[in-house]
Amino acid sequence: MKELGVYIHIPFCSSKCYYCDFVSFSNQDYKIAGYIDYLKREMDLYKEYLKDYTVKTIFIGGGTPSYLEGHFIVEILEHLDKNFNLKQVEEITIEANPGTLNGKKLYQYKGAGINRISLGVQSLNDRLLKSLGRSHTSMDFFRNYELIREMGFNNINVDLIFGLPDQTIEDCINTLKKVIDLGVEHISYYSLILEENTMMKKWYQEGRIQLPQEEIERQMYHRGIDLLKDSGYKHYEISNFSKEGFECKHNLFYWKLKPYIGLGIGAHSNISNKRFWNHSDFKYYYNSLDQGKIPISGEEIIDKDMEIAEYMILGLRLVKGINKKEFANRFKLNIEDIYKGVLDKHEKGGLLYTDHEWVRFTPKGLDLSNLVYVDLLP
Ligand SMILES: C[S@@+](CC[C@H](N)C(=O)[O-])C[C@H]1O[C@@H](n2cnc3c(N)ncnc32)[C@H](O)[C@@H]1O
Ligand code: SF4
Repeated sequence: MKELGVYIHIPFCSSKCYYCDFVSFSNQDYKIAGYIDYLKREMDLYKEYLKDYTVKTIFIGGGTPSYLEGHFIVEILEHLDKNFNLKQVEEITIEANPGTLNGKKLYQYKGAGINRISLGVQSLNDRLLKSLGRSHTSMDFFRNYELIREMGFNNINVDLIFGLPDQTIEDCINTLKKVIDLGVEHISYYSLILEENTMMKKWYQEGRIQLPQEEIERQMYHRGIDLLKDSGYKHYEISNFSKEGFECKHNLFYWKLKPYIGLGIGAHSNISNKRFWNHSDFKYYYNSLDQGKIPISGEEIIDKDMEIAEYMILGLRLVKGINKKEFANRFKLNIEDIYKGVLDKHEKGGLLYTDHEWVRFTPKGLDLSNLVYVDLLP
């Protein structure tokens, strides 16, 4: 049986954050029940196609899956179980916003097999939270966190963002310290991306908000890394830190270029050397399913050269890097057969470190990764 990761997209939120360009909508609650029905139909269509796969990880993301009533999440997982082989599932994550959880929902999640909760916290400075358009306060986070623990979950992630408008290094460090003090198992520490078509990008272009200078932003990152490492967290991916044994198994599927299927609007899949993505629009997604078709809006065949380049680019996101033996086993080629020139160049430039077993970024390389990525493309 081949291993598979499954992503399920829930595109509903209580309000739209100013920096967010994910496929997510507020004020569309009347669509929720219908959407769940279509998700189930999509699962039905995959049953035959995926019969040789065993699911190892499930990630219910969004949007805000925890915004939905708990029974919808139970139904999704029950229906998945009817159509996919879930006997060997190791990790089921749900994304949750502080303030949306209660004892009933958490009880339902537990019963449905969810064993990892990922909380989008972003910052514990209430002024910053407001300026991001977040619908919760730091107190909502602390209350929900306590409840999650009381309900017996022992694998919690907290998402944070640094490089926010008006944020200082002290802000970042204070937030990190509070989260570390709670003893969360996993922390994602993201650098803000000013995405197109967001309020924040518009305000930035109009000069209404300012971002920290690049040098400060890099200090936020590196001081964060130092603090997290000193506090016992392993820095295992560019933006991700975990206590020993709590790396996100689902995201490791992406970074190691293992097969995954995405269900729901806008979701992406990568399987059998093919990458495809679903319609991002409810109407087109529903129309396809009404016609009994998998609701794909586009696809790309990944040839061997592209697969190798992607394996390198994604693998280098992992701090321990790419294992040369694993590379050789997968591609029946040595990494040097293809990339000797690139590896030599960037080792000399101080961006890459290589030895007989591994290829990885140096700390300088983590900041200048794009210079390496362009050289890896076919
Ligand atoms: C799918 S999103 C949303 C999860 C959840 N709805 C929430 O907001 O709490 C997952 C994470 O991506 C990060 N993120 C979203 N937009 C970002 C941006 N423009 N720049 C950096 N990180 C971003 C946030 O940390 C967020 O928690
Ligand atoms: S960041 Fe999360 S809560 Fe905010 S709009 Fe995006 S998906 Fe929704």
